[in-house]
Amino acid sequence: MKKFLVIGNPIDHSLSPKLHNYWFKKYNINAIYGKLETNDTDLAELCENVRDGRLNGINVTVPFKKSIMPYVDVLSDHSLRTKSVNTISLENGKLIGHNTDIDGFELSIKKINFDVTNKSIVILGAGGVVPSIIYALQRMNVSNIFISNRTKEKAEELKKIFDDLKILDWGELTDFDMIINATSIGLKENDNFSFDLTKTKKNKFFYDVIYAPYKTNFFNIGNEKDNIYENGLKMFLYQAQKAFYIWHNIEPEINNEVIEFVKN
Ligand code: ATR
Repeated sequence: MKKFLVIGNPIDHSLSPKLHNYWFKKYNINAIYGKLETNDTDLAELCENVRDGRLNGINVTVPFKKSIMPYVDVLSDHSLRTKSVNTISLENGKLIGHNTDIDGFELSIKKINFDVTNKSIVILGAGGVVPSIIYALQRMNVSNIFISNRTKEKAEELKKIFDDLKILDWGELTDFDMIINATSIGLKENDNFSFDLTKTKKNKFFYDVIYAPYKTNFFNIGNEKDNIYENGLKMFLYQAQKAFYIWHNIEPEINNEVIEFVKN
């Protein structure tokens, strides 16, 4: 039986095991997918476990997407560009670090009736998933990307990778077409922003990377007026679909049934 893991810290909230195990059953794959709360000191051994076949693949989530990089043999173009790995596979004896978050984000946007071409985007947060979002937005030819993070130095670090980023102070907002919450504000039920997002004009696209809980305060604002709102569930599903394809050569279907299954 093949074995897969998602590693991160914290990891309890991860829905990856639920999703991958559902697809194993659906596509008759003899495999099991678990989760492991991990520390930095475990990364080398976990990667060796993939090399020697005790594990068949790993998904990596915060805070290890960057720190796992030295332990793989080959980085995909997407991983190199974003300095971020979320999927590890073994191919011809070599450990490959992939980044499927980029496709995950891009596909989630393409499923919505909102064309980001030449649009101005504000990203709140500078954590693990943000390089992938920036890179995907650049590929979709947005006009401007502004980034605002409580700890400004982290936004400045990102500017070293993406030099045309524009940095805003935390709480400072500029005019935008789309705003993305990539912070962890909203993971806890009463979490809210320390600044007012409700004064933004109409017809804006609010995208929350958080998908559990399904409705956050950011959702409540984004759902008002004539705004468009999307949460991170589709990004999560599409990054998983791409990882599944890397490991099993099958592109699992994303339909209402799987969306409802993961949500509940
Ligand atoms: P990591 O930073 O380890 O990659 P993450 O969950 O991907 O983890 O990122 C957390 C993001 O949420 C960061 O941008 C963080 O801001 P800091 O860089 O200042 O820590 C942001 N964040 C978390 N709680 C926050 C809060 N209460 N107010 C503002 N930003 C917050």
